[in-house]
Amino acid sequence: MSKPLHIINGPNLNLLGTREPEVYGTTTLADIEAMCDTRAKTHGLETVCLQSNDEGEMVNFIQAARTDASGLIINAGAYSHTSVAILDALQAVEVPIIEVHLSNIFAREEFRHHSYVSGVAAGVICGLGAQGYEMAIDALAARLA
Ligand code: DQA
Repeated sequence: MSKPLHIINGPNLNLLGTREPEVYGTTTLADIEAMCDTRAKTHGLETVCLQSNDEGEMVNFIQAARTDASGLIINAGAYSHTSVAILDALQAVEVPIIEVHLSNIFAREEFRHHSYVSGVAAGVICGLGAQGYEMAIDALAARLA
């Protein structure tokens, strides 16, 4: 059995469902995590999910992926655009990383157009809402097969 896929959601993503639904949709984070688990199981994979508003806690979870995960999906929220600490942690991860954003960050404010995560990700999915997470799982499963 492969190690699980780690799925990290960053700040304010705990508010999904009620936070700016016109931008992020009405699907809750619990729904997304359940969808991810169901999708991963179709590939014979398990998931371990973390949501945190705390940059340090995210760094710790990314570090754990070095030994405990077979792949990593990350929506770092606003930290995507600001956090060198998260970039450094991701650079030390050798398993494949897929970056996901619910919204199309390139169709939004200019400060969202750059993500520190993108340069270390095997792929980036944005603008496809919750479906983007399922696509990320499929992509990781294909890489691990
Ligand atoms: C986001 C996009 C970010 O710019 C924003 O700060 C978020 C959510 C997304 O999923 O679309 O918190 O990562």
